[in-house]
Amino acid sequence: MSNGWFETVAEAQRRAKRRLPRSVYGALVAGSERGQTIEDNMGAFAELGFAPHVAGLSDQRDLATTVMGQPVSMPVLISPTGVQAVHPEGEVAVARAAAARGVAMGLSSFASKSVEEVAAANPQTFFQMYWVGSRDVLVQRMERAKAAGAVGLIMTLDWSFSNGRDWGSPNIPEKMDFKTMVKFAPEGVTRPKWLWDFAKTRRLPDLTTPNLTPPGGTAPTFFGAYGEWIQTPLPTWDDVAWLRQQWDGPFMLKGVTRVDDAKRAVDAGVSAISVSNHGGNNLDGTPATIRALPPIADAVGEQIEVLLDGGVRRGSDVVKALALGAKAVMIGRAYLWGLAANGQAGVENVLDILRGGIDSAVLGLGLTSVHDISRGDVVIPPGFIRELGVHEAAEL
Ligand SMILES: Cc1cc2nc3c(=O)[nH]c(=O)nc-3n(C[C@H](O)[C@H](O)[C@H](O)COP(=O)(O)O)c2cc1C
Repeated sequence: MSNGWFETVAEAQRRAKRRLPRSVYGALVAGSERGQTIEDNMGAFAELGFAPHVAGLSDQRDLATTVMGQPVSMPVLISPTGVQAVHPEGEVAVARAAAARGVAMGLSSFASKSVEEVAAANPQTFFQMYWVGSRDVLVQRMERAKAAGAVGLIMTLDWSFSNGRDWGSPNIPEKMDFKTMVKFAPEGVTRPKWLWDFAKTRRLPDLTTPNLTPPGGTAPTFFGAYGEWIQTPLPTWDDVAWLRQQWDGPFMLKGVTRVDDAKRAVDAGVSAISVSNHGGNNLDGTPATIRALPPIADAVGEQIEVLLDGGVRRGSDVVKALALGAKAVMIGRAYLWGLAANGQAGVENVLDILRGGIDSAVLGLGLTSVHDISRGDVVIPPGFIRELGVHEAAEL
């Protein structure tokens, strides 16, 4: 019997699929409508090539960098995911693994663990918020995160409430009680290891959102919180600027894919953006983030930190993103597969795979540091790049 170690993120995903109940696995795979965007996020990385050297390579390679004021051991961050029931230790296990590997942690406000627990496990925690609830409530949530020790804020804006998936949406219960367990029993029975993990803790999967608890109240369920979100008037750029002013510290806007929006984000005073399409879970047909990155990095990369997330499954993908202008990347599903496959050790395993892959690519390219990676290091096929909102940006 193995110790649970795996060699690739693809293997972690296979194990996650075997281990998780069908509906939980389905919620992670996701990808809206026909899944065009999620496919392109991954496929576009494969279209990029490398031009390696073979001699005169460097024995020493430096992968460390800083992101949003935090020194990190490599240009990879944990992207916030509001995912429940993957593993009993949930985001705390992810935060511990990230801390053990010198990686910063993004915590979703829809997460199953509190910002207090997560920031205690990883002092480099960025708290992620959506525009949900009144201004007073938003301030109260960010002040709680600040008091817990969060060192940065991520505002995610690219959600358009798309809900149809051609492959079928997973059936996620409102809460886990005895009745629901009976209903879902056939799935649990075929996934005994997952069930056993939760059984050992003597608790059912927690489907509440403790970071959205009103003062003195109880944590809303995932769907209760989603209901509040749907009823909240949508934010304007002035709202973004307002929220940014309320947070004293590094502030990232996540979800930008257009150059004009990137410039508006700069005007709103953000310190970083992530070129992101929510991992293909949002508006299907949005191009791969790696295609949209270069013009955005060219336009605002000198003023703010430009990150990318979407489709990163290996260290070479990280290097490709850096070559096209990202300061660092954030990963979503890659660490979720690791968490599902082997808990904290599985997330550490995924981070080690990425580190090894970054190091190999930096070595092969004949470089000594991730800071030396440039566009000339990758082969970009004609027509690869997508310029979104470039003409509109010129008019701003
Ligand atoms: C199951 C799931 C839940 C997510 N929940 C959130 C969330 O709560 N907040 C957020 O900003 N992004 C969320 N995301 C998006 C991720 O932060 C990230 O943008 C995306 O996963 C990156 O793509 P990748 O999975 O291909 O790495 C979620 C993604 C997935 C797959």
